[in-house]
Amino acid sequence: MESYRDPDVSPAPAPAADRAGVLSQIDPAAADASERIALALESNHIVYFPKCPVPLPDDATLEYLRTELPSRLKLKNISYHPEGARVTGIEGDATVRERTGEVLKRHLDDVAGLLYRTMPRWRGACRVGTCSFRPIQEQGRDLKPHASNELVHIDAGAYGATSGDRIFRFFVNVNAREDRVWASKGNLQDMLERYGTPAGILDLSGRLRMRIDKSLADHAFSAAVGALARLNPLAHTLDSSPYDRTMRRLHNYMKDSEDFRRDMRGYEEFRFPPYSAWMVFTDGVSHASLSGQFALVTTIIVSRRALEHPQFSPYALLAARSRAGASAA
Ligand SMILES: [Fe+2]
Repeated sequence: MESYRDPDVSPAPAPAADRAGVLSQIDPAAADASERIALALESNHIVYFPKCPVPLPDDATLEYLRTELPSRLKLKNISYHPEGARVTGIEGDATVRERTGEVLKRHLDDVAGLLYRTMPRWRGACRVGTCSFRPIQEQGRDLKPHASNELVHIDAGAYGATSGDRIFRFFVNVNAREDRVWASKGNLQDMLERYGTPAGILDLSGRLRMRIDKSLADHAFSAAVGALARLNPLAHTLDSSPYDRTMRRLHNYMKDSEDFRRDMRGYEEFRFPPYSAWMVFTDGVSHASLSGQFALVTTIIVSRRALEHPQFSPYALLAARSRAGASAA
């Protein structure tokens, strides 16, 4: 069993941002913290904690991850998958895999505990995705554009299809010295308004051009994937839906379009200091990891039916555009 540090490390200063944009800082001990966190998250803001609000592995364990894992990486990240308790992305002997899995599982449990205490409605309404350790310096990773974290984008289709459920991510910078630097150009509301038409998902009058509800054929396909996934949980990643294809189109536009890359409207950069944490629905806030090495990243899929403020969900924002009289972009 790993020993864990008390989260009571010195608070870091807030990340520098040139204006109030998509970042919210909320004291988790405040009396109204739950309501404020739920509203900030669900209305597509990053919730930032100068001091990580869950316990972190102790220094020796973190140093082990930082020194041992970069040379053993064989995928983009090293991930713990709770279904089947598997660790992927790592080359090495069983001891390294087991120790890494223990650390990631414990962090995942701690993050899930924090979420369920803060947002009780989410309990029983979440699919736990993964808990990952990101061991590589983000700057200059030379990944293909669609896999690159350095390009500003909105996440789409995590682990197959979400069908409108939301992609929640909790990040901790576990680099002892270096900030993790993010950029954003705004939330999904901004992205649809500015880029929905050039991305091809809205027509010139701002109306949704694509269907986001499943047809009978889509339901049949998902049922077949579901049957396969009972034999092999990884089969879930094969699933798709009209909603996910729409979001994927926006994601790909943001990573492929030169016009989008040159357009700096709403651009902000954030510096997340060592041992700070932040959480965000990454399907609702545009983001890029510009630099930084060593982060813990937990992904949880939250049912859109459990949301306190469902009107801000990507599904609702798109559905509003599909109705007659949707406002022009
Ligand atoms: Fe992302």
